[in-house]
Amino acid sequence: MISKLKEIVGENHVLTDPSLIAPYSNDWTNHYQSNPIAVVRVSNREQVSAVLKVCNENNVNVVPQGGNTGLVGASVGGDFPHIILSLKLLRNDLIFDETTNQVIADSGFTLGEIQKFAKEKGLEYNVDLGAREAATIGGTVATNAGGMRVVAHGMTSAQVVGVEVVLPNGEILQNLSGLAKNNTGFDITRLAIGSEGTLGVITRVRLQLKRPRQVEWTVLLPVTSIDEAIKFCRPKASQILAAELMETSSINEIAAANNANLLSGRTDWWLLIEGDGEQPELPETALLALDASDLEKYWSYRESHTGYINRLPNSIKIDVCVPVDSLSEFIFGVKEIWSEHGELKDLWIFGHVMDGNLHLAVSNCEDPNPVIDSVMKLVVNLNGAISAEHGIGRAKTKYLKDVKTPSEIAAMKAVKNAFDSNGIMNPGVIFPIEN
Ligand code: FAD
Ligand code: MLT
Ligand code: ZN
Repeated sequence: MISKLKEIVGENHVLTDPSLIAPYSNDWTNHYQSNPIAVVRVSNREQVSAVLKVCNENNVNVVPQGGNTGLVGASVGGDFPHIILSLKLLRNDLIFDETTNQVIADSGFTLGEIQKFAKEKGLEYNVDLGAREAATIGGTVATNAGGMRVVAHGMTSAQVVGVEVVLPNGEILQNLSGLAKNNTGFDITRLAIGSEGTLGVITRVRLQLKRPRQVEWTVLLPVTSIDEAIKFCRPKASQILAAELMETSSINEIAAANNANLLSGRTDWWLLIEGDGEQPELPETALLALDASDLEKYWSYRESHTGYINRLPNSIKIDVCVPVDSLSEFIFGVKEIWSEHGELKDLWIFGHVMDGNLHLAVSNCEDPNPVIDSVMKLVVNLNGAISAEHGIGRAKTKYLKDVKTPSEIAAMKAVKNAFDSNGIMNPGVIFPIEN
């Protein structure tokens, strides 16, 4: 098996030495590790096809991996024989179609590279997130990534007009025409988006670039509650390009650790808003970004949360969505739940408030399971989603049955089976492994 893989991708691209494998087999959060037979680095779709075929014939599981920035443990394997298929070197073609303003990109380009490419064409790729320089475009499509611009432009799914997917049997399905209208039965592209590596390997994507909506004002607004944040944003919804909520206590703890400026002012929350058009009337206490250094500072308050919290002892993340009007009730419930397990200073709440998507995290949490169970129950009771944007991964499989009916799960499994009849693609992701 290993020698066959070496024949396909070359000796240097089949890694078996534990020290070379470590950066791939340990996930970004450090909560998930696996012990792959090998890490196989592919650089074109023919290699992907040949590797998948060999694995399928030998019943070896395949975990596709892009930038390994996923936050739900899906980019590394479980306790079963597998290879990690790294797609980071699959980065040959980046083709622009001037007629449609669409770009066809190999899946290993990073999100940041796609953003830059769009900018060079005077256009914009409307997905943005903190891991932009490491996350691959294929990974963002496989997770249907969200991020900071969803409030204005929607999720990754709203930007993708086509994909090329390699199936476990080596067949290549190409949906890259970019036609504006194509009602010809089931849409493979839609199935691939958010499939978390469980159906096949996305080798190319076709993305719609748009004329930029320029950010004309950026402000940090003190707010006393989530409802106040929502009340401020709602009437300006058509202007808003980002609306990110953070707690003062978190900002100041993170800023102190980074030797950055603290935020003064007696308020529990800050709302970072970017918008276009006329700057709205702001209270005197608002901090308007006046130059590039303000912009960098405000965004770094926001984007430093993930790394800082992840480094705290016994921390876990919970990414969920509830209807925007239920956010206050949700946070009240979360605080009640957490008060039975730990101190309020170890509860972290931030995120994309106008999407109803808050990121919760707790630190110094010895036993996360009862906390997560209770939060998930609360989310379900409020008609929310147990994953807003990070996916189900390995982290949330046991809650799938709480949000999908048995018939829905059966239909999802039938789709999986049609793509991957031997079940080699990322087992234990989305669906729990059945014994
Ligand atoms: P990986 O982590 O390598 O893989 C993620 C999943 O996609 C796995 O299931 C994997 O098997 C599958 N996969 C990867 N590539 C392919 C492929 N080519 N074909 C088939 N399957 C594939 N996410 C958000 O939604 N919003 C955010 O705001 C956000 N912010 C983040 C900030 C930080 C600091 C970090 C570390 C992560 C953040 N994320 C966010 C999560 C992460 O960046 C995204 O999930 C991203 O889309 C993953 O891309 P990746 O290339 O790293 O994929
Ligand atoms: C974010 O919005 O910063 C990301 O989704 C990552 C996180 O949840 O920390
Ligand atoms: Zn997020």
